Amino acid sequence: MPDAGADTGRFDPAIFADPAHAADPQPGYKQARDAGPAVPGLFGGVQLVRKSAVDFALRHPDLFSSAMEAVDLGQTYPLIPLQVDPPEHVKYRRLLDPVFAPQRMARLEPDVIDLVNQRIDGFIHRGECDFAAEFAVPLPSLVFLRLLGVPSSDLELFLSLKDGIVRPQGSTMEEITNSQRLTAQRIDAYFRQILDDRRAARRDDLLSWLIEAEIGGDRLSEEEILGICFLLLLAGLDTVTDALECSLAYLASHPDQQRLLRDKPEVIPTAVEELLRHETPVASVGRVAARDVDVEGCPIAKGTKVGICLGAANTDERALPDAGQVDLTRAPNRHLAFGGGVHRCLGSHLARMELRVSLVEWHRRIGEYRIAPGAQLTWSPALRQVDRLPLLFEAN
Ligand code: HEM
Repeated sequence: MPDAGADTGRFDPAIFADPAHAADPQPGYKQARDAGPAVPGLFGGVQLVRKSAVDFALRHPDLFSSAMEAVDLGQTYPLIPLQVDPPEHVKYRRLLDPVFAPQRMARLEPDVIDLVNQRIDGFIHRGECDFAAEFAVPLPSLVFLRLLGVPSSDLELFLSLKDGIVRPQGSTMEEITNSQRLTAQRIDAYFRQILDDRRAARRDDLLSWLIEAEIGGDRLSEEEILGICFLLLLAGLDTVTDALECSLAYLASHPDQQRLLRDKPEVIPTAVEELLRHETPVASVGRVAARDVDVEGCPIAKGTKVGICLGAANTDERALPDAGQVDLTRAPNRHLAFGGGVHRCLGSHLARMELRVSLVEWHRRIGEYRIAPGAQLTWSPALRQVDRLPLLFEAN
């Protein structure tokens, strides 16, 4: 047993709420890891922070459940497959994995190349852009609308539904929960309407496919389809936005690394992985202890909320001696930015393709770029997201 560090009192979780942590989480992650494998969570419960403890939790869904009480986002049915524990979970993954397999996602690539270039066309002549508002926020939603077979004109509505859950209104927990519940109802109504339309006239899109899909000879229920759609909306949009923002903010402040990608675009696939590892846009995922459990000397009681801090695990020098360094050519790169175990990201192939195409097209068309002098970047404390990312480059 390592220095079990059951002395979680040495770490003050308020660090995780500090704006400085949101901007650069690495010092806070290190302090947490040095305090022990598990530290107190920001809102009670515990956070697992060392790679070994995080691996253990991800590989034991029997001990760490991700059922509905782990994360309440206002929905009235479980998000499928995230909030379904094994053994039931596997039937949904068997159904959905082929839909998000690399070969299927490769078919979307020409569309994504198109969408990325349309975004760049919108600002390249100005020599400046707000990368967040003009690229990172709309791109994943536009890709997603194509996947769902919904017209791009729904973009603003779609973004407002997503933001209503991810960035709910309100200053108290009650206000926030109420606002999320109202948005959840709107999302429900939105998808029910499209499902009705598809039942009336099938198309070659994901929603039509879900209506026809069967598990063990039975069609999915309306609630199961809605649970899948709700999760895809939450899991597939901000995550890619965050990864794009983290990656570009990093590259804009590291001219040598940026030059490497411009001069050697063949490095981009490994760069995508390394930026995901180092920046870890989904910093932490939630679980509930299904029974009393001991993690490397830290007792966790049944019912405790457990944060699995993927960000801290990804830069744990106990597992990867040069974890603090960003090496865009690193291979192999077994990071946890997409989680691990049974709930490992369903959309990782789509996400990787969106990130790779974005970095390839961006560095092909845009010369040297930097963050606008004097710009104050405000990072969100929860997801690794920035409110504005003003970039300057030569107009073209
Ligand atoms: C860079 C972008 C992305 C990152 C960093 C990311 C990260 C993650 C992580 C960390 C998990 C594990 C959650 C947990 O264990 O509680 C996860 C699960 C999931 N992700 Fe992603 N994700 C990304 C993009 C996407 C996209 C584009 C989609 C869909 C189109 C998607 C769909 C899902 C789904 C459905 C799950 C739940 C899988 C299950 O429970 O079996 N993600 N993602």
